[in-house]
Amino acid sequence: MSSPEPDQTLSQTPPSSSWMTYKRLLAYVKPFWLAFALAVVGNVIYAGASTGMAAAMEYVIAAIENPTEGNRLLLTLVIVGVFALRGVGTFMSQYFINYVGRQVINALRNDVFDRLLTLPSRYFDDNAAGRLVSKLTFNVEQVAEATTNAVTISLREGLTIVGLLSFMLYTNWKLTLIFLAVGPIIGAVVSYASKRFRRISKRIQGSMGDITHVASESISGYRVVRTFGGEDYEQQRFREVNERNLKQSLKMASTQAISVPVIQVLVAIAIAALVWTMLAPEIRGGMTTGQLVAFITAATTMAKPIRQVTSVHAKIQKGVAAAYDVFETIDETPEKDPGTYAPERVKGTIRFEDVSFRYRDQLDDVLEGISIEIPAGQSVALVGRSGSGKSTLVSLLPRFYEFTGGDIAIDDRSLRDYSLKALRAQIALVTQNVVLFNDTIAANIAYGALRDCSREEIQQAAAKAHALEFIERMPDGLDTMIGDNGVMLSGGQRQRLAIARALLKDAPILILDEATSALDTESERHIQEALETVMKGRTTLVIAHRLSTIETADRILVMDNGRIVESGRHDELLSAGGAYAQLHQMQFSEQG
Ligand SMILES: Nc1ncnc2c1ncn2[C@@H]1O[C@H](COP(=O)(O)OP(=O)(O)O)[C@@H](O)[C@H]1O
Ligand SMILES: [Mg+2]
Repeated sequence: MSSPEPDQTLSQTPPSSSWMTYKRLLAYVKPFWLAFALAVVGNVIYAGASTGMAAAMEYVIAAIENPTEGNRLLLTLVIVGVFALRGVGTFMSQYFINYVGRQVINALRNDVFDRLLTLPSRYFDDNAAGRLVSKLTFNVEQVAEATTNAVTISLREGLTIVGLLSFMLYTNWKLTLIFLAVGPIIGAVVSYASKRFRRISKRIQGSMGDITHVASESISGYRVVRTFGGEDYEQQRFREVNERNLKQSLKMASTQAISVPVIQVLVAIAIAALVWTMLAPEIRGGMTTGQLVAFITAATTMAKPIRQVTSVHAKIQKGVAAAYDVFETIDETPEKDPGTYAPERVKGTIRFEDVSFRYRDQLDDVLEGISIEIPAGQSVALVGRSGSGKSTLVSLLPRFYEFTGGDIAIDDRSLRDYSLKALRAQIALVTQNVVLFNDTIAANIAYGALRDCSREEIQQAAAKAHALEFIERMPDGLDTMIGDNGVMLSGGQRQRLAIARALLKDAPILILDEATSALDTESERHIQEALETVMKGRTTLVIAHRLSTIETADRILVMDNGRIVESGRHDELLSAGGAYAQLHQMQFSEQG
């Protein structure tokens, strides 16, 4: 499942969007402008103190040549003062920029998470969970690198360079110009290196997501891996993505490692040329020894800031690539929700009118010409081979997917008229894959909008779902923590909790998609009774694997290949001797 495609789309990021990404990041910084301003002040102090250090060399030399009492005191004060000032600058710039950075991370994470909560089912079909989680953790952290480290270094060292250059120009502009002539060469090297960094860092991000993805799949599915002898395959898969990550990281490391010494040597050549020229009398002019030493100090002090400023580019690019990726998620279109109709409680009449549907990339319709009329309070069972479209059909009702043709109406109002929230409030859904949260049993039953339900209501729902019998045997009853995704529970117990959750919701429309599939025949019979009480007074769509559980439905629809091929009551369909009779015959002989 390791796919290089997303990384390629990333590296095709148009250059202009890089600037857009900066601007958007800045918008996140804006609310913390005061802290940012304090950081800038800290950087200015730091740069000023650094320049002061170089400039002070002139007085140091003067004091050494002429060590009077006053000069000695002045010198000591200057040394301590300059360092203390630089310390204050360092503290301010580091603390406040980190403050801004952590705030930005916090805000970005919330934004990504909020967006994930509104994205359509399709998005989750298309994106592996591991990749999404790595966006929230790894990528968002990298964005912080851009806003903190990079900003600090570029501001602090950038300002230091400006300070030192001004001092040098002021002292001897001819010398400074010679020094500057070497600048463009350094710039060219820097820009080449940074371009490479940008390309590589984007790829590394993708391969990091792959690692998370492959690893989390094998970890959460370790039982399947072990029992099906998938170790070699998983190992192979993991080796591949890990190897890819290694290669990319090494490429990154080599570019980084090369760029630093190359730039240093260039700076050294510049300084050597400088020293050689400045000893020429026509250039040196009237400079005293102290001034000369101060000038050289300034020039050499510049090597470090220049180096840092060049390495900062890679950091910024890394952050921008990460930010681009994060913004991409924030920019995903949420579920369309133009409807405003929001009734308190619908009666529950459901009508499908010539509905067709296809998943986005598919060539053929998964559902075709579906027309169903369900009076309020009645139950309809869907049967048919696996893959015939039953789950797809019921997932259109809460609008997890938008139907592509025809219309679906509840209480004679098109689903499109309803607001998503109001629509989904009318529907209780129990599927084969029960999702439980790492919380108490009570909190899992009274999940989400149900959290205000009373203890008695929860207890009643659990009792009706035949869940109370096993809950009471647990150490803390309803308050037992059930662990990550309910690992402590059996399939049937999980299923009963899901049914209790649906019962508690007390919605006018109930969808049971193989809700009893994890139960053995005995428990199923128990729950069957419970379900029949629940179904009373509710419009119910039930998909069941075992036909025995749906014989009492008001109507049975037989689906095949995305179409409804038969419809009627159990005995009608049996005597008709069609597809249903065949399915029934097959199961009957299986059980016998
Ligand atoms: N999220 C999805 N994306 C693309 N195709 C899907 C998706 N879910 C189901 N399908 C396809 O739609 C068809 C119907 O599937 P489904 O409704 O799950 O059938 P059933 O519930 O009857 O077993 C199948 O061919 C399946 O491969
Ligand atoms: Mg299904």
